[in-house]
Amino acid sequence: MKFFIDTANLAHIQEAQELGVLDGVTTNPSLMAKEGISGEQNVIDHYLKICEIVDGDVSAEVISTDFDGIVAEGEKLAALHPQIVVKVPMIRDGVKALRYFSNKGIKTNCTLVFSPGQALLAAKAGATYVSPFIGRLDDISQEGMQLIEQIRLIYDNYAYDTQVLAASVRHPLHIIQCAEVGADVVTCPLDPIMKLLKHPLTDIGLDKFLADHKKANS
Ligand code: E4P
Repeated sequence: MKFFIDTANLAHIQEAQELGVLDGVTTNPSLMAKEGISGEQNVIDHYLKICEIVDGDVSAEVISTDFDGIVAEGEKLAALHPQIVVKVPMIRDGVKALRYFSNKGIKTNCTLVFSPGQALLAAKAGATYVSPFIGRLDDISQEGMQLIEQIRLIYDNYAYDTQVLAASVRHPLHIIQCAEVGADVVTCPLDPIMKLLKHPLTDIGLDKFLADHKKANS
């Protein structure tokens, strides 16, 4: 399973990269705004900085909601760097744009996916990635992880190439469950990734090993 980091924070991206487990980055307009990135040139510069830090795919989301606008924005973003993946919302003109980009060999990430039907359409339209939002479904008392399982089954039934990119991942258990049900990619902030590291018995065990070594060598 690939690990993407879901942030526009360069320090967090750098930290995950240095850990040696990072396969890519996803951003969205809210995450860019959170880092205070605004204005076309600043946004472009920020994407390029992200591409310098990581080797893998970097999702850059379009703001337009009409076909012509999505295509114009997406082509501009894709031309910035070979690592850029155009992130397109799951709306009617978005689906049309996914097919357009797919025909032109431009990588896409279909975002804001909350149902198996939406995921099926994204795959039919040739999306490179589909982003089902687990946490936001959990927030409204629906089983986010069940959606990942349903999409996995559907894609496997028909051998769709579209990769299941589990998004809106909030905690380490989400990551484990995504791995269990066969998500291709998980994207989340730095915190849940770092929490995978932790186990109290590891800390207790290491303290004991180091104390015993010190005793034996003093
Ligand atoms: C996906 O690509 C989104 O950027 C993200 O995962 C949304 O997460 P949130 O629901 O925690 O905002």
